[in-house]
Amino acid sequence: MNGAPPAVVVRDLVKRFGDFVAVDNISLEARPGEIFGFLGPNGAGKSTTIRMLCGLLLPTSGQALVAGLDVAREPERVRQNIGYMSQKFSLYNDLKVIENLRFFAGMYSVPAADLKERIDWAIDMAGLAGREQLLTGTLAAGWKQRLALGCAVLHRPPIVFLDEPTSGVDPISRRLFWELIHRMADDGVTVFVTTHYMDEAEYCNRLVLIDRGRIVASGSPLELKEKSMAGDLLLLECDQVGKALEELQGAPGVTDAAIFGNALHLVVASAQSAIPQVQEFLATRGITVSHIEKIRPSLEDVFVSLTSLNRDRDEGDKGEANRDQGDKRDKGGTKDKGDPTGTAVTDEKKGQP
Ligand SMILES: Nc1ncnc2c1ncn2[C@@H]1O[C@H](COP(=O)(O)OP(=O)(O)OP(=O)(O)O)[C@@H](O)[C@H]1O
Ligand SMILES: [Mg+2]
Repeated sequence: MNGAPPAVVVRDLVKRFGDFVAVDNISLEARPGEIFGFLGPNGAGKSTTIRMLCGLLLPTSGQALVAGLDVAREPERVRQNIGYMSQKFSLYNDLKVIENLRFFAGMYSVPAADLKERIDWAIDMAGLAGREQLLTGTLAAGWKQRLALGCAVLHRPPIVFLDEPTSGVDPISRRLFWELIHRMADDGVTVFVTTHYMDEAEYCNRLVLIDRGRIVASGSPLELKEKSMAGDLLLLECDQVGKALEELQGAPGVTDAAIFGNALHLVVASAQSAIPQVQEFLATRGITVSHIEKIRPSLEDVFVSLTSLNRDRDEGDKGEANRDQGDKRDKGGTKDKGDPTGTAVTDEKKGQP
């Protein structure tokens, strides 16, 4: 795969909704056969980016090439080369399993000669053999999601965009789903996926973390854990965990504090000096520390640390008001709701074929 042109190239991509900047000058590249994880908190701009990459939303500025095609100039051809699973389940609940497959096969112009083989493949992949005649709406979430993936890749696209494909699905179904994703990547398919599950982020070859429309970190899961934390991470066990959390937020030397199970994780500038400081700080507030040690950060730590650092940095400036405005605007239902194919054109694209 090395030397092959990138499957996705994004340069200085911007999306504004009025004054609100949802995607703020992002650049990235995904290589063929790569599982590319796109992470970020709610409202970070993940779905907006994906919709631009799928040719469903016009960028305000910048450029994106998908399968070598410019998404703004050739959105139709881009759509022929990709599979897209939108954040909302993209199936018709009131159609039978087999009817959904036939519908998507038609929409993606699967050649008649391949139709049976592709539909059989999708049924097998989704574990739905014998359930072809069931109403899709009656399927459990895990099955629905595998069916939605099957529908999105019926035409064998080289690049697949999956927007939170596993939200609301149980852990076993999630694992099965990721096995499918890995098999597709082994076959050379580029998988561009968003998730809020950090265990899933670990399955990706490369990650980009965005916050408030901006890229705040990128690299392999290992690189992110080793390089992206600003400071050291401490595991702290104590009585009154809730009170300790409250006290430690804003305590001297503590950059960040978050609950992890029955313990706290603290980001500090230096573990060596912070360990005695924190113990003393809590002792004077009547909290006894039973255990404190420096630990290696998990992806979740990196995620929490980088996104909250960003929040702190922006606090007080008009970025906050700006983003709130965007959140309110979104309540009008601007996402993929009611668009089972995920291909409805947005206001920007009205009038295009
Ligand atoms: N059509 C639109 N008009 C105005 N604002 C929008 C529109 N679409 C999205 N936004 C705003 O842009 C920001 C980014 O939204 P987006 O859906 O891309 O976030 P996300 O990272 O996918 O979040 P989530 O994890 O919740 O799915 C949000 O503040 C959202 O309210
Ligand atoms: Mg989203």
